[in-house]
Amino acid sequence: MAEAIVRLRAAGCVFAEDEATVLAGTAADGTELAALVGRRALGEPLEQVVGYADFCGVRVRLRPGVFVPRVRSELLVRVAADTAGPGDVVVDLCCGSGALGLAVRHRQPAIDLYAADLDPVAVACARDNLDSHVYQGDLFDALPTSLRGRIAVLLANVPYVATRHISLLPAEARDHEPHTALDGGADGLDVFRAVIAGAADWLAPGGIVLSEITEAQAGAAAAAIRAAGLDAELRSDEDLEASVALGRKLVTRLR
Ligand SMILES: C[S@@+](CC[C@H](N)C(=O)[O-])C[C@H]1O[C@@H](n2cnc3c(N)ncnc32)[C@H](O)[C@@H]1O
Repeated sequence: MAEAIVRLRAAGCVFAEDEATVLAGTAADGTELAALVGRRALGEPLEQVVGYADFCGVRVRLRPGVFVPRVRSELLVRVAADTAGPGDVVVDLCCGSGALGLAVRHRQPAIDLYAADLDPVAVACARDNLDSHVYQGDLFDALPTSLRGRIAVLLANVPYVATRHISLLPAEARDHEPHTALDGGADGLDVFRAVIAGAADWLAPGGIVLSEITEAQAGAAAAAIRAAGLDAELRSDEDLEASVALGRKLVTRLR
C-alpha cells in the first residue's frame, strides 16, 4: 500500500492515499494492485481502472474507453426524476455507461427505461448496468419506432465541448475517453441541435428533452429549442456548476 501511494504521488495524483485505498479495495492481490496502480499512474481515470463509478447514489460499472459520469450531471438526473412518473417512458440517449438512466430509475423505479449510444463499447457497458432495452446506433435511429410520440423524458447528455476546446481538457479525458464522447463541433452544439431537431417527433405531448450545456451555450441552445417548436427553459445549479437546457413539447400547438 505504501509503495502504491508513493507511485501515485510521483505520477501527480493529488489524492494519492485515497486512490491507493480504492485501488487496494479492488485488487485481489499485490500483483494486481501493482498493475492497477501502473494504469492509474499512466493517467487512466481511476473509475476506468477499478471498473466502476459512484454516481448519484448508484454504483455504475465502467469499462476502459467509456465516458466517466460527471458529478455535475446530477442536475440532469434530478430534473428527469422530478418529471417522470410511474410507467413513463424515459430514454437515455447518448447513454455512455447508462449512468444517468440508472440513477433516474434508482429514484423512480417504475419508469419504462430505454437507452442508446453510437459507440459499441459504451453500449456493452450500458448493458452491464441496465439489464435490457439498450440499443446501438446514431441518435434516434437506434430506438424502436414504437417509442415515437411516447417519450415523457428524453435525457441526452450529448458531447458538447467545442472542438477548439478539446485540447484544453484534462489529459484523463483527452487520452482515455473517446473523441466522439466529447467533441460537439465548432460551437459544441452539433449533436445537441440534431437531438433537438428530432425531439418533437419522439416526445409525448408535455414531454421534455434535456441536455447539459455550458453557460456560454445557453442562448444558442434556447434558440435551437424554440426553432424546433418546443418551449425552452434553462436550469442551473451553482454548487454543481451545471447548466441544463430543457425543451418541452406543448400539449396543444397554437396556430
Ligand atoms: C458526454 S458522453 C455522456 C455519456 C453518459 N450519458 C454520461 O453522462 O455519463 C456522450 C455520449 O454520446 C455518445 N454519442 C456521440 N455521438 C452520438 C450519436 N450520434 N448517437 C448516439 N450516441 C452518440 C458517445 O458515444 C458518448 O457515450
